[in-house]
Amino acid sequence: MRQKLTKLSLAVISITYNWLVGIVCVFLPKSYRYKNVKNEIVLITGGGSGIGQQMAVRFAALGAKVVIWDINERGMRQTNALVKKQFPTANVFCYCCDVSKYENVYEMAKKVKQDVGIVTILINNAGMVNGKLLKDLDEKAIIRTMDVNFLAHFWTCKAFLPDMMATNHGHIVTIGSIAGLTGAPRMSDYSASKHATIGFEESLRYELKAEGYTGIHSTIVCPYFINTGMFHGARSDVLPFIDTDFVVDKIISAILINQEVLFIPKFMYFLYVLKSIMPSRALYALFKSLGGEYSMNNFVGRNQCNENGRGI
Ligand SMILES: NC(=O)c1ccc[n+]([C@@H]2O[C@H](COP(=O)([O-])OP(=O)(O)OC[C@H]3O[C@@H](n4cnc5c(N)ncnc54)[C@H](O)[C@@H]3O)[C@@H](O)[C@H]2O)c1
Repeated sequence: MRQKLTKLSLAVISITYNWLVGIVCVFLPKSYRYKNVKNEIVLITGGGSGIGQQMAVRFAALGAKVVIWDINERGMRQTNALVKKQFPTANVFCYCCDVSKYENVYEMAKKVKQDVGIVTILINNAGMVNGKLLKDLDEKAIIRTMDVNFLAHFWTCKAFLPDMMATNHGHIVTIGSIAGLTGAPRMSDYSASKHATIGFEESLRYELKAEGYTGIHSTIVCPYFINTGMFHGARSDVLPFIDTDFVVDKIISAILINQEVLFIPKFMYFLYVLKSIMPSRALYALFKSLGGEYSMNNFVGRNQCNENGRGI
């Protein structure tokens, strides 16, 4: 009994202490806590477009070596040109890699290790969306969504984590989505893949902590609609689409301070709490009032947006 009480007291002290540290950190200027990523090797999947492309530019500006993986060769050339225009001496390495295929991931990981070195920051960002009702989704499309948005995270982590573990140094960044916290019509496959991704990331984070890898950090990012063009045609009546640069600023800042969970915009933390305490009828009324029911009705996606992906 005494042992149990001691254990319980220690747990309460630890929770309170860590809660307080969390609160203090919110008020500290973030830039004081930034880590140095100069010469770190950052691999960004889906870096040929959208937020992946902009993250490549930011990491190059911070002096990191940037590796891009994408299936879009033209996009990768564009990323390379963007970085080189601003930072002519920056190191950018582009590889055509379909992250949904584990053989391709392992082969390209070997190549990156030979050509560039050991990846220390892995950003799992590649993603796709179909935007269809379940009855219109064919099996191949569903499997593809799960392969790209979810299973690919297993393959890239299995490829790069062992090297991070060997030196107890690294950072895994997972680009999830608010759709990984809530469902919506025409998002069954996308939302399922993002929910799964969030579960994967949290389990891996706890696994690394439990195994004592104090030097391997992780960040899960859950943004609302961003104006990259991926969700071209979707409507958001109450909350505006978020600007790509704003999202990328927040992500980079979170990585530099080893922040573990990032929802964008901040309002989403509040909605997340509401979701856990509201009766489901009231929650649906809230979802409707935010325009969630019809937000994807006119979705056309990336096919219909302009060259820069700024379709919205
Ligand atoms: N745009 C949004 O509104 C939004 C909102 C929340 C989360 N997200 C997530 O952010 C991430 C980036 O989205 P974005 O808006 O920059 O989209 P984007 O379409 O601009 O970029 C996605 C990139 O992933 C690449 N890609 C797709 N399949 C791939 C594969 N099999 N292998 C390698 N690369 C592949 C694409 O070619 C593209 O370059 C995605 O994971 C997306 O789900 C986006």
